[in-house]
Amino acid sequence: MSNPLRLGIAGLGTVGVGVVKIIRQKSKLLAERSGRKIEISAVSARSRDKDRGVNLKPYAWEDDPVVLARRDDIDVFVELMGGSDGPAKAATEAAIAAGKDVVTANKAMLALHGQQLADAAEKAGHIIRFEAAVAGGIPVVKTLTEGLAGNEITRVMGVMNGTCNFILTRMQDAGLSYAEVFEEARALGYLEADPTLDVGGIDAGHKLALLAAIAFGTRVDFAGMELEGIERITIEDIHQAADMGYRVKLLGVAQMSGRGLEQRMSPVLVPASSPLGQLENAMNMVVLEGDNVGQIVLRGAGAGQGPTASAVLSDIIDIARGIRVPTFGQPAHTLSRSSPARTATPAPYYLRMELQDKPGALARIAAVLGESGISINRMRQYGHDDTTAPVLIVTHKTTRDALDVAIAGFAATGVLAADPVALRIESV
Ligand code: NAP
Ligand code: HSE
Repeated sequence: MSNPLRLGIAGLGTVGVGVVKIIRQKSKLLAERSGRKIEISAVSARSRDKDRGVNLKPYAWEDDPVVLARRDDIDVFVELMGGSDGPAKAATEAAIAAGKDVVTANKAMLALHGQQLADAAEKAGHIIRFEAAVAGGIPVVKTLTEGLAGNEITRVMGVMNGTCNFILTRMQDAGLSYAEVFEEARALGYLEADPTLDVGGIDAGHKLALLAAIAFGTRVDFAGMELEGIERITIEDIHQAADMGYRVKLLGVAQMSGRGLEQRMSPVLVPASSPLGQLENAMNMVVLEGDNVGQIVLRGAGAGQGPTASAVLSDIIDIARGIRVPTFGQPAHTLSRSSPARTATPAPYYLRMELQDKPGALARIAAVLGESGISINRMRQYGHDDTTAPVLIVTHKTTRDALDVAIAGFAATGVLAADPVALRIESV
């Protein structure tokens, strides 16, 4: 058996401890599968005294992850601290400069700095692997970079934030408001320290940007993504969607069109009977479409200690086996600069509006839609208080640009009591 693969692990929280546990509990299995022993040389976290439920005494301790990253007795720096900048980025850069491979679960860091870090690593003859950063335990990075390498990828879709899927499905199942379920998610420990990362679609957007880079051979472009969170989804939207045979999902879609790279992460309606429509609780699902393979659907836990550590181990074992796929599936310097394109594929839209309850209000809205070239498929007023009336409109297929013109036109009618909510009805 060859020399052991020596790890330095920075971050001993949910994921880091999961990785340490697997390496301690399954060392024989890992060695048999990798062809060499996988050992931990040193670890780092903020607090040395914290009881983490795992024996860390055999490993050297470093207070500073940058110092850990530079140690001579490590081959792979495993970054499990999180944060797009700060110590995670500094230590990753230090590890690359010191000639180490890097394994990370940090989607925020890679979505913002992935190109620069991959360029630096590959120039130095090293790799960065990030299976755990996207959809937790689902091996989607490996599927795209290896299993589907013989395909031109035509579309990538996914529900990749478990917290948002939990909130939306719990609202549906329990008939609770967004605010009530948000508090449940907080109590269950699902929310990121900054919950906007979850409910604002940012965390899922980071993940989609990483998959899009692999799928389309483009530099990671998180800034080019159309991003909208679930904060404005009401229990009425959930009920209305269900009445029409749909479910509300925070869905990411990336595809290359003649105009450039379309990337959007937003709440949409999907058919209730579709695999995405049936995805419950905190589960993730990624749908990949390739010209030869057709459609592949991957479903599993997108977070949690076991699933995420499982994905980290997959990268570590690949490195131990000598499998050296470039970070984004092809050398970083060959990734092209994509121009971000706004979604132009027409789709039906669901529109919810709160209108002043007065004669002619609905007629004015209908007139604006007609002037914008948007045809109404169904329309419903579903109960009202003394002064306002909630109105639901489902359009025939239209573009988001046309809809935005109409929404701007609604404002000028003076009959809106609140900003409208517009949700694309996605064919999946
Ligand atoms: P976590 O539980 O908050 O743990 C973070 C760890 O990093 C802690 O051990 C912390 O030390 C350590 N740390 C923070 N700043 C540090 C610093 N300056 N120097 C040294 N150590 C530092 O986070 P996590 O949930 O394990 O997530 C880790 C990474 O995995 C993140 O990038 C996250 O986005 C990603 N991820 C997580 C999941 C999941 O289910 N949790 C799923 C997919 C991806 P102390 O313990 O001493 O405070
Ligand atoms: N906050 C993320 C989620 C954690 O809810 O999916 C996993 O990346």
